[in-house]
Amino acid sequence: MGWKTLDDMDLQGKRVLVRVDINVPVLDGAVTDDTRIQRIVPTVRDILAAGGKPILLAHFGRPGGERRQNLSLKQLVPALEAAFGTKVRFGEDCVGYEAEIAAANQGDGEVLLLENTRFHAEETQNSMTLAEGMAKMGDIYCNDAFSAAHRAHSSTEALARLLPSCAGRLMQAELSALEAALGNPQRPVTAVVGGAKVSTKLDLLGNLIEKVDNLIIGGGMANTFLLAKGLDVGKSLAEHAMTDTAAEVMAKADKAGCRIVLPSDVVVAEKFEAHAPHKVVPANKCPADSMILDAGPDSVAAICTIFEQSKTLIWNGPLGAFELEPFDAATNAAALKAAELTQAGKLVSVAGGGDTVAALNASGAAQDFTYISTAGGAFLEWMEGKTLPGVAALAQ
Ligand code: 3PG
Ligand code: MG
Repeated sequence: MGWKTLDDMDLQGKRVLVRVDINVPVLDGAVTDDTRIQRIVPTVRDILAAGGKPILLAHFGRPGGERRQNLSLKQLVPALEAAFGTKVRFGEDCVGYEAEIAAANQGDGEVLLLENTRFHAEETQNSMTLAEGMAKMGDIYCNDAFSAAHRAHSSTEALARLLPSCAGRLMQAELSALEAALGNPQRPVTAVVGGAKVSTKLDLLGNLIEKVDNLIIGGGMANTFLLAKGLDVGKSLAEHAMTDTAAEVMAKADKAGCRIVLPSDVVVAEKFEAHAPHKVVPANKCPADSMILDAGPDSVAAICTIFEQSKTLIWNGPLGAFELEPFDAATNAAALKAAELTQAGKLVSVAGGGDTVAALNASGAAQDFTYISTAGGAFLEWMEGKTLPGVAALAQ
């Protein structure tokens, strides 16, 4: 620990730069899962109640240092106003003239949201110059973005070194809940890791197999592992260049005594479309003109059995193309099983990640998990035992 919280700060009349993570899924301008927005409400509310002025800094997507209109945070203003129940003023930039004017005009009781920090390439370089520009607008820095704490960026790391700093309510809640559930987990520990790419989660997989007893791999990532086992995956999303790596992960898991679980049957379709005509086939019988869009019923049954034999479950990433019905079936069925075991007191279940939380909310299972983290990557890095730069900077 070693960091301050809002309770340690005198907030009366102070401008508080709050780093939040409102990187929420948006479809046609509407927020489709507002979990991350709801979870920052206590911090904003407490700052306002103590007479402070919250100035929100956040990223949205990966604009790569360019001003991209579709990644403007302005589109989130209505959702934020609804959640906070107060006016949200918007500043067209996160530093410089536009930001400073907006901050100067911020009224008591108002929240100021500044434009996407990643519209500046310097943000992801953890530039001190950019952080100095941000620091000019605030008296205090509060980091409430646990889910971005694995990034050493100007608004998550450098800025903490320039102003009196503290952790926000969500940051505190995430760290204590994860520590309580997973700090000293009961075995067997099972992890479900899904999502599109092996390449982005490679280090993670390598580290997790040292920590968990079962590693269930789902989503597009599973296809790369099936390929590595010499199976044909047809037109499925898979990383052909990563098969050697996947084979190494499997060999390493074997040595570490970690069981890797891949789908034994799969749901295939010719098109990546909701309600595309589909059928269930054994994992080694994917037709050349088809793609795997979900795990099949036998795989789900096997996963549920593993859950029954486990004491702790960590979950990041859906098992199939959950955004397309009915290819959310495996994710939903497994999630409901985990929820049921949790409610029966047989399983400690923790899930995290934007897609995962959206999928678990859609299945109705989320509320019955032990804990739902707003973080994906940060949660997994925490799980691996890595130092999170955004958290470490607060402790200095
Ligand atoms: C997330 O959505 O996982 C966080 O906001 C971090 O985003 P990033 O992976 O683009 O850094
Ligand atoms: Mg991410």
